[in-house]
Amino acid sequence: MAVFLGIDIGTSGTKTLAMNEDGAILASATMEYPLYSPKPGWSEQNPADWWTASVRSVKKVMRAAQLKAADVGGIGLSGQMHGSVFLDKSGSVIRPALLWNDQRTAAECTEIEKLAGGRKKLIKMVANPALTGFTAPKILWLRNNEKKNFNRTVQVLLPKDYVRYRLTGEFATEVSDASGTLLLDVVKRRWSKPLLGKLDLDASLFPRLHESEDVTGGLSPIAAKAMGLKVGTPVVGGGGDQAASAIGNGIVRKGVVSATMGTSGVVFAHSDEVQVDPEGRLHTFCHAVRGKWHVMGCVLSAGGSLQWFRNELCQAEVAAAKKQKVDPYELITQQAAKAPAGSEGLFFLPYLTGERTPHADPNARGSWVGLSLRHGKGHMARSVMEGATYAMRDSLEIAKGMNIPVKEIRLSGGGARSQYWRQMQADIYGQPVVTINAEEGPAYGVALLAAAGTGAYKDVVEACNANISVVTKTASKAAVKKKYNAAYPVYQQLYASLKDDFANIQTLV
Ligand code: XUL
Repeated sequence: MAVFLGIDIGTSGTKTLAMNEDGAILASATMEYPLYSPKPGWSEQNPADWWTASVRSVKKVMRAAQLKAADVGGIGLSGQMHGSVFLDKSGSVIRPALLWNDQRTAAECTEIEKLAGGRKKLIKMVANPALTGFTAPKILWLRNNEKKNFNRTVQVLLPKDYVRYRLTGEFATEVSDASGTLLLDVVKRRWSKPLLGKLDLDASLFPRLHESEDVTGGLSPIAAKAMGLKVGTPVVGGGGDQAASAIGNGIVRKGVVSATMGTSGVVFAHSDEVQVDPEGRLHTFCHAVRGKWHVMGCVLSAGGSLQWFRNELCQAEVAAAKKQKVDPYELITQQAAKAPAGSEGLFFLPYLTGERTPHADPNARGSWVGLSLRHGKGHMARSVMEGATYAMRDSLEIAKGMNIPVKEIRLSGGGARSQYWRQMQADIYGQPVVTINAEEGPAYGVALLAAAGTGAYKDVVEACNANISVVTKTASKAAVKKKYNAAYPVYQQLYASLKDDFANIQTLV
């Protein structure tokens, strides 16, 4: 039975797993690497670190699962989206890669909208507005600020596609990750010649495009030797981490939506047609399912807000948890559970790192509004969880407003592991939520793509149907749902009320 490797080039580390043809995970390994922030708002990594971590994690997995080179039938690649790797004509990296969470490109976003003939025209060409995290503004930043480096650049690759280049020697990408460059004609699934023309970027800077299941090349002798694998082992397109994670969650048909509460929070809906939010609040990208699309909302600090609360305000709980040998979040959740739904009028806005969906606003700030003497730590904990969940509901509401059906919500990430937060999500989303049997995320998704792309399954939809199933269901409680339905419009209004104040605050720092 063949084995498939999924490699996910994440922001904190690279995770590799081995999966057999029946979808069972045989072993997994993660290798971490640093992130550099040479100036406030900058976020960079060395692509060489991704390669080293890929080699080491593959070797570790092969050893742990006692696999031989000949067992590996294919490799799938996933990775942090939007990052830019600049290569010179010898294929060497010119400078550290700018990452998805880098905020230096506000001026370039304005420049792109202007060159495109306005926001509406830009959305018409590439289905999305210019956001600081996307790739195109990073390329313009290089041209505006490091002209010499820009002039040396002959190829711009996304993080996982740099690893593909080291694996196969090929400059190739696939449509799901390419969508996040802001340079893809998402409708036609090809590079947008009109936008490239307006931005004066040469089409030769960008790699060949594939569908996510396609084999993009085979392992080169150098890579095969480094990893202890067979020369020619097929490498499929794979996917950007969000599309790959959606495959790992089985989000491959209309009506099935995922809500992933990790550090960031992502709502992801499959779509059979291209559906674009005219206001550009949700991203419209190609899916890793052949010929399909998805819409996606990204809350920058969802679980990250609770993590901040734990780190900054819960030292006592962290110490007690250590003694009791439990997870600190368990103790924080116990406190939160003592406060009633709605936290007696206390609201938390989770904009600790600005926001992407629905308010693309780098100035937005985290806030508690409604504090009174009645409120204690339990209320604060509960309101943080409620605020992050309302923010996810914002994306669900926009999707519903675009006539995207939300029949089943599949939860994943840290927010899915706690029954308390699952119930809160069901109550705030106002419908049942489910969890599934797979928890491995993007690396699992691309292992399934590798299995499908090399013929173990007819296609990735068949691979998902064969291996992914619902294991828990949590219904919403009518009375609590009613309370949250009354509180949600108040939460929504708070950003509108504070937007100008957030901008003013920014001028003070
Ligand atoms: C997706 C996004 C993040 C990164 C890093 O649009 O910005 O999910 O891919 O994980």
